[in-house]
Formats: sequence, C-alpha cells, structure tokens
Amino acid sequence: MTPIYQPAEDSYLMSRILKEQLPDLLNEKPDLKFLEIGVGSGIHLQSATSAGVKKENIFSSDINENSVSHCNILGFNCVHSDLFENIHGKFDLIIFNPPYLPKDSNEPEDSEVATTGGVKGNEIILRFLKEAKEYLEKEGKIFLITSSLSEDVNFQELGYQEKELGCEKMFFESLCIWELAVIL
Ligand SMILES: C[S@@+](CC[C@H](N)C(=O)[O-])C[C@H]1O[C@@H](n2cnc3c(N)ncnc32)[C@H](O)[C@@H]1O
Repeated sequence: MTPIYQPAEDSYLMSRILKEQLPDLLNEKPDLKFLEIGVGSGIHLQSATSAGVKKENIFSSDINENSVSHCNILGFNCVHSDLFENIHGKFDLIIFNPPYLPKDSNEPEDSEVATTGGVKGNEIILRFLKEAKEYLEKEGKIFLITSSLSEDVNFQELGYQEKELGCEKMFFESLCIWELAVIL
C-alpha cells in the first residue's frame, strides 16, 4: 500500500504562499477555479477552503489511489490521474508540489512516487509544464515548487514567464515556489 505523503517543509512553504496569495487572487476573481495535481494529504485543499475558494471550485488529483480515497473522504473532488490524464476543463490556479528529487537507489519503492522526479529530478516537472498550458484559463497561473537538488528548469524555454514567490533554505537544499504564466 503506497503511503500518503505527510506534510513536510515543502508542503508548509506552499501553504504559506497560498495564504499570502489567495486573498488577492480571490479579490480579482471570486469564482476562482483551483486545481491541485499531486494532492497528497489534502493540506492545500484545506488552505484553499479556509482562504475562501468555493468548495465546488476546488479540484484535485493524485497518482496514488490512497491519497485520492483520503481526499474524497474529506469531501473534496479528487480523481486518480497521472498528471492531467483524467483532468477536464480549465483552471485559474493550478498548484503542484511535485516529486523533485533525483533518483536514489536507496529510496524505498513505496515512497519514491512522492519524492523522486526522475534521474535528474526534474522530469515530472518538465512533463507537467508541457501539459499544463492546455488546462489554464486565460491569465491563469501555476504555483510550482522546485528544489536546488534537481536539475534547473528553463521556464521561458517552455513558454512561461516566472516570478519567484518565496524560497526557503535548509541546510541541505533550498526550495522555491514560482508563479508561472503562459507567455502570449
Ligand atoms: C511531494 S508530494 C506533495 C503532496 C502534497 N501536495 C503536499 O504538498 O504535501 C508529491 C505528490 O505528487 C503525487 N504524484 C507523483 N507523481 C504524480 C503524477 N505523475 N501525477 C499525479 N500525482 C503524482 C504523489 O503521489 C504525492 O502525493
């Protein structure tokens, strides 16, 4: 049974940024449609609800069936999906705290799905960014976490303008959250 990712530093950074950013985004668009890819424990669905995103506008997914069942039990709309495979519609805000670590042969197989982004660490992020454009409303935004431990991503080459929303340095890595908008 694949364990549900328990909130850690990366999750808390995303929660903080959502608390800071959602009030302004909701001011601009009270009917904001929110999607989280890789929902895990559902921590950010709770933040979105507390910030005032309407529950019927909150959508989520995970490749881990246990996360999906857990978030359904919490009362959220959550589907089993490999990235956007089973996602339909367009969203004003898509968030993703991805698996971003480079492959480590010592990592247990059942936690790898939540932590390992590929050989260089950024492969799932690259796949996500190639697909995400199709699912963004006009002027929609992405909040994405990256780590200094994985290979850098050139957002502009992939067609996105980036803005750094916050970073956190730990003794072994630094994590950043990026706001991304499609370059028109
Ligand atoms: C680092 S955890 C983040 C969990 C939660 N969002 C948080 O911030 O605490 C990454 C999550 O992405 C999910 N995941 C990994 N690969 C995925 C994929 N291809 N499609 C959808 N979800 C995926 C994992 O199962 C895990 O729940």
